[in-house]
Amino acid sequence: MNKKEQYKQLLEFAEEASKNSYSPYSKFKVGAAVLCEDNKVFCGTNVENASYGLSICAERSAVFTAVSNGCKKIKAIAIYNKNGDISPCGACRQVIAEFAKDAYIIYNSKKSGLKIIKISKLLPNSFKMD
Ligand code: THU
Repeated sequence: MNKKEQYKQLLEFAEEASKNSYSPYSKFKVGAAVLCEDNKVFCGTNVENASYGLSICAERSAVFTAVSNGCKKIKAIAIYNKNGDISPCGACRQVIAEFAKDAYIIYNSKKSGLKIIKISKLLPNSFKMD
């Protein structure tokens, strides 16, 4: 399987995860799938709360699941919403950058199909302690 096929498959995992979205307030279902260095995949979805600020995005949900399962190096993360063109929010970019020096962000663009962008392009100069 080449890289593009692998990313398409990752986006399918993200689509599947979006079906578990708990988003009764926004009605905006998002799924994310993280591809780890050892090729394991971990998924997440957005989980909202009646106290709005406690809600978590699909991307952070997926990254925290990956880390909780022993993966600290991310190769790619795919993000799915049925309307496409969903690129991660600022908070999620910072969280992704923590575990991914050169990871690729994958999502579906209505205009141009599969979009593949490096996290360093989406978040140049991410905050680091060193
Ligand atoms: N959301 C995500 O899960 N990922 C994003 O990249 C943007 C927004 C969620 C948060 C909230 O549950 C809903 O989408 C609407 O903002």
